Amino acid sequence: MSGNEIRQRFLEFFAKRGHTIIPSASLVPENDPSVLFNTAGMQPLVPYLLGQPHPTGSKRIADSQKCVRTNDIEEVGDNTHLTFFEMLGNWSLGDYFKQDAITWSFEFLTSKEEGLGLDPKRLYVTAFAGDENAPRDEEAYAIWKDIFEAAGLDPEKRIFFMDADSNWWSPGDNGPCGPDSEMFYDVSGALTDGLTREEFIAADDRQDVVEIWNDVFMEYEKKDGQVIGKLASQNVDTGSGLERVTAIVQGKNNVFETDLFQPIITVLNSLKTNDDARAIRIIADHLRAATFLIADGVVPSNTDQGYILRRLLRRAVRQADLLGIPDGALAEPTKVIVEQYGAHYPNLFEKQAVIIDVITKEEEQFRKTLEKGLFQLKKELGRNLETGEAVLRERVRADTAFNLFTTYGFPIELTEEIAAENNIKVDRAGFDALMEEHRAKSRAGAEQKFKGGLADHSERVVQYHTCTHLLLAALRHFLGDHVHQAGSNITAERLRFDFTHPEKVERDMLDQIEGWVNDKIARGGAVTIETIAKDVAENDTTIEGSFWEKYPDMVNVYTMHTDDGSVVSRELCGGPHVANLITIPPTFKIKKEESSSAGVRRIKAVLE
Ligand code: ALA
Repeated sequence: MSGNEIRQRFLEFFAKRGHTIIPSASLVPENDPSVLFNTAGMQPLVPYLLGQPHPTGSKRIADSQKCVRTNDIEEVGDNTHLTFFEMLGNWSLGDYFKQDAITWSFEFLTSKEEGLGLDPKRLYVTAFAGDENAPRDEEAYAIWKDIFEAAGLDPEKRIFFMDADSNWWSPGDNGPCGPDSEMFYDVSGALTDGLTREEFIAADDRQDVVEIWNDVFMEYEKKDGQVIGKLASQNVDTGSGLERVTAIVQGKNNVFETDLFQPIITVLNSLKTNDDARAIRIIADHLRAATFLIADGVVPSNTDQGYILRRLLRRAVRQADLLGIPDGALAEPTKVIVEQYGAHYPNLFEKQAVIIDVITKEEEQFRKTLEKGLFQLKKELGRNLETGEAVLRERVRADTAFNLFTTYGFPIELTEEIAAENNIKVDRAGFDALMEEHRAKSRAGAEQKFKGGLADHSERVVQYHTCTHLLLAALRHFLGDHVHQAGSNITAERLRFDFTHPEKVERDMLDQIEGWVNDKIARGGAVTIETIAKDVAENDTTIEGSFWEKYPDMVNVYTMHTDDGSVVSRELCGGPHVANLITIPPTFKIKKEESSSAGVRRIKAVLE
């Protein structure tokens, strides 16, 4: 069974059980500046898991969601780590709960006709052991017990209770969460007779059993890291990594041997002149991630998503060099990726030319930077650049290696290689220390990023979010209809809003805008949501919207009214918003107006 068939089977299985199949959301979360990428299938569904009706009107949803995780980028090349992967998932938004979720998971995994036909004797599962937040999940246990007994297997040797460390799932410190039940498959093929709990834990450590699916019973909510109580409804969130499941179904011991990767690897093999299996895997992974990222509108840069893309591409180029793959040849495997995934992700076909162009240009630019970096390094190596004569020096200083890395994107391995060619060592310990300092700083930055944002849906964040709609309406009212949203970033402390406008907005105009917003807040008025077909909304000139391509076929439009019922703002948006403007304090203050990029201005504002 091919990877594409597995995805298809999954979607058909759940469509047959009343689920609406939705396309994957963009890799870049919309309206959620707190995370760089979707890292789990449920992320784009958070508003609906918190109770907002889904735009399709359905309470049963299934999809294959594109995800990117870059924490372990250095590990890519081993048997398991990937930066890009697809997560298969089915969701109940206040509809079915544990009984159906678990039964269907088992059926899909084991059914030969409709599912994957995996052997129930190789299946092990966990359930939540209970703690101060929620009781032991006897219900999940009982459902699994019936299933295993019906399959003639001893439940005692199949179902294990685990604590919150492994069996409580939440997307972060804030949001919907709950106990989960994880399914594991015996990839060794030798553990078919059942295990004790201790044996199971040991097998998990050895990776003889691997997790293949997770059913989360989302009926709780977290705020600031604490479980604060139950949600209005009982939801189900499930997730299964397509690449990993494909490896299991195809009997491979790593994802790179599956048919999801083999066509890419075959073309890389045909281009290389040196052998390095790890380098091939790194290129295959990074290029796949880059292709999907570019298709979702990311361009290489030195910040946020763009920086990750740049890193992926530069690493791929470096590995291509190690393999002796000719300059500019990465377009070949990229075409194969587009070919392989385009049927399910049509934006790859649509954006093929852009994808190849971005990859080719980034490679060219990186090569120029490499040249400059090499020049610096040779200077450091003490080589007389005119004559090429060596001036002896013992080692490359840590700060030089670090600068080469930060300024020219020179991986330390590259610096070491070049130094070694000149019989010189690099102060690796010093470099590592500088890197650790650098990482600690960026971690602090990332934590800062995670702290705020729409993801937490705190009262203040939601108020700021509604204020961005009022601000846009005010800007359009005073400056003209050429003003559209170009970006936004919201934390609990402030809002930042980018908009299209060619010149500086003077302070007296900002005062008027501010006054207009505060007037609407003070007068109060209902905020309503409608769900309409995207093509209808897009052609409705009373609806303001940007980034239409990121939205599904059915979209939510938020309308904000004033006290006499007239419309103040009507905008395409994923929400959430306050129910009435009166709930916001009328203390909106524009703190700063500045240029953001060509033709785009940026406002920072607070509720004082
Ligand atoms: N949200 C759950 C996970 O990502 C299903 O594992």
